[in-house]
Amino acid sequence: PIVPVILCGGSGTRLWPLSREAFPKQFLRLSGKESMLQQTLQRLDGLPGLVTPLLVCNESARFIVAEQLHEIGMEHARLLLEPIRRNTAPAIASAALQAMENGDDPVLLVLPSDHVILDTHAFHHAIALARHAAEEGGLLTFGITPTGADTGYGYIRAEAAASGQVQRILEFVEKPALAQAEEYIASGDYFWNSGMFLFRASRYLEELKRFQPAVVTACRAAIAGAKSDLDFIRLDKDAYAASPDIAVDYAVMERTSHAATVTLDAGWNDIGSWKAVLDVAQKDADNNRANGDVLIQDCNDCLVHGTSRLVTAIGMRNTIIVETPDAVLVMDAAQAQQTKAMVAQLIARE
Ligand code: GDD
Ligand code: MG
Repeated sequence: PIVPVILCGGSGTRLWPLSREAFPKQFLRLSGKESMLQQTLQRLDGLPGLVTPLLVCNESARFIVAEQLHEIGMEHARLLLEPIRRNTAPAIASAALQAMENGDDPVLLVLPSDHVILDTHAFHHAIALARHAAEEGGLLTFGITPTGADTGYGYIRAEAAASGQVQRILEFVEKPALAQAEEYIASGDYFWNSGMFLFRASRYLEELKRFQPAVVTACRAAIAGAKSDLDFIRLDKDAYAASPDIAVDYAVMERTSHAATVTLDAGWNDIGSWKAVLDVAQKDADNNRANGDVLIQDCNDCLVHGTSRLVTAIGMRNTIIVETPDAVLVMDAAQAQQTKAMVAQLIARE
């Protein structure tokens, strides 16, 4: 069987002012009715061999997550709660230990909860391709053909193989410096890491133990001391807090010799900015996207997102407008990466 492990404990602020510390982007409903978390779960429909998903999130998000599960009729999914944020390596390790509880050793399909994938069929196809290699002990990633020297991604260089095949990973570099990323892109030999993984629970734990034994020790203790009630599995706080704070990409993927990749050509986008929201949205004849109570005239290539009152715009081009009760963002779409710096300024001001 395959256990989907959904990571929904991140704290993105790149879609400020809509996403906040307490309401990160995986819970936002950007493209319609469902949130990105809900779409992540619905995207699994029809994949063979899947059992009930395990969601891993911060304790503070438990009610948002439970409510969003309820809305899509998935209240049976299990929720593993982190008392404190320790990043993805321990989050996945705890899920792996939980999934092995009954002596099973399932394959885990680890999925971020804040990405868009337009072509579900191609996504399912990539998982089917990767499955056998994961069952045989490989740590499988899904490689994206890059479009630029973005430093927010992991970079993968793989052994040449026929397209549509599993390729052994020769080099994995998480978030390289810009000059390095530019070299990788110029060489044409690298994929972006999509952040989704497929591997056996035991193989992941073995590799993590080899490179970051303190993470495994802490997570074992946190699972041993976990308290379950009907809805939640709560990791033991002191034990989990003792884990190093480290992402799976640094802890395991950069160092393991069992990594492999399959190409994912499925309209993947990790929605790292408002510009990306506009790019993947369905737009009107003038290439605008309006969400909420919005009236626009003579605008092109604009995203206007209202949440609490009427928002109007006239004669705008390439502009992003996001209205919330306590903050409004008006931004040139070409400068959408700069919300990060804006949020940093805000935090400094507080
Ligand atoms: N449960 C839990 N706990 N989830 C977490 C935590 C945590 O402490 N930290 C992050 N997450 C979740 C996020 O919500 C997201 O869904 C996923 O794990 C990945 O974390 P990010 O923080 O978004 O990682 P990233 O975007 O910087 O980098 C990863 O994704 C890139 C592609 O989008 C890496 O895997 C890169 O190599 C990859 O290119
Ligand atoms: Mg991310």
